[in-house]
Amino acid sequence: IESGIPAVKDKVPFDIGAAVARAQTLGEHGELLTKHFDSVTPGNALKWDATEPREGEFTFAEGDHLVDYATGHGLKFRGHTLAWHSQTPAWVFKDGDRDLTATPADKALLLSRLENHVRAVVGRYKGRIQTWDVVNEVVDENQPDGMRRSPWFVVTGYDFIRTAFRVARETDPAAKLVLNDYNSELPRKRKAVFDLVKKLRAEGVPVDAVGHQLHVNIEQAPAAEIEKTIELFAGLGVDQQVTELDVSVYTDFVSSYTTVPAGVLALQGYRCKEIFDVLRRQASHLSSVTVWGLADDATWLSSFPITRLNPPLLFDDELQAKPAYWGIADPARLP
Ligand code: G3I
Repeated sequence: IESGIPAVKDKVPFDIGAAVARAQTLGEHGELLTKHFDSVTPGNALKWDATEPREGEFTFAEGDHLVDYATGHGLKFRGHTLAWHSQTPAWVFKDGDRDLTATPADKALLLSRLENHVRAVVGRYKGRIQTWDVVNEVVDENQPDGMRRSPWFVVTGYDFIRTAFRVARETDPAAKLVLNDYNSELPRKRKAVFDLVKKLRAEGVPVDAVGHQLHVNIEQAPAAEIEKTIELFAGLGVDQQVTELDVSVYTDFVSSYTTVPAGVLALQGYRCKEIFDVLRRQASHLSSVTVWGLADDATWLSSFPITRLNPPLLFDDELQAKPAYWGIADPARLP
C-alpha cells in the first residue's frame, strides 16, 4: 500500500468506515483498512442468510472473525442488518410450504422468529458492536403509506420495526440503533423516510439514527440534495450516518471502454469532493460515514446486475489511491 499519503481518517471530522468481508482483513487489504479507516461494516457476514440459514441454527464464523479483527485493531463496528427483505432465507416467511399471511397467528410466528434472531445476533456481540442497522430499506415512496410491501410489512404491518428496535435495545442497551435506507437524498424518498422516522420516534420506538446509504452516480451531482436531507432530519433531532457511500461511474459512455477513462475517474474525484464538502459542513449531525467497500477489486457494482466496468471506491484494484481518495483527503491534489 502507498506510504506517504495521509490516512483518510485523519482528514475528516467524523468516524469513517468501510464495508468489508474476510478478504479485506488479510495482507495488504488489512493494512489499507487499518491505515485509513476508523470502523467497519460487514457487507454480508451478519445478514440473516449468513447468521441463521435454518431456524435456530446460527452460524457466526465470518461475523466472529470480523468482530475479533475489529476489536483487535481498534476499529469500531457497524452491524448490518437485522431485518431486511433481501438475503433472508425463505423459511423465515413460511410455515412449512405455506407463505405466511396477515393472520394473527402468522404475525405472532413471524415476530417471534424476529425476536429470537435479534436476541441471538445482537446478544452474541453485545458490547463489541457499537451500532446496528436494525431495519433496512423498509420505505417505498410509491406506496400511499410510504411502506415497502415486503413480507415483513405484509404480515406484521409496522410491528416488525417496533419489535426489531425494542428487542435490539433490550439486548444491548448501549448500541446505537439505525433505520437505514437508500435514495434518501431524493426528494420523494426523503419525505417518506422522514415521515416514518418521525412517526416511530413519536411512538417511542428507539430509532437513534437514520442511515443514508448514498449509492450515488457521477452523473447525478447529488451534493445539494444530500445537504437538504441532512438538514431536514437534523430538525427531528435524530443522529445521522452515511452508511454505504459509493460513486458509480457506470454510464452508456463508460460501458464502451475496457478501462475507465482518466477524465471519468477525475470527475468521480470531484463528486467526492462535493459530497464531502457537504458532509464536513454538516458534521455536527453525522456520527459516521461509511464507504461500501475498501477497494475496487471487491464491490457489488462491478457484478450488478452483470459483470461490468464500474470502480466506485477510493482505492483501485491495486489498492492505489484514486482521485476519489484525493477528493476526500486533499482536494487540492485533484487532477
Ligand atoms: O456467498 C456466495 C458465494 O458462495 C458464491 O460463490 C458467490 C457467487 O455468486 O455468491 C456469493 O454470494 C453473493 C454475496 O454478495 C457475497 O459476495 C451473492 O450472490 C450476492 O447477491 C451478494 O451481493 C450483496 C448484495 O448486498 C445482495 O443484496 C453484496 O455483496 C452487498 O454488497 C450488497 O449490499 C447491499 C446492502 O446490504 C444494503 N444496501 C444495498 C447494498 C448494495 O446492494
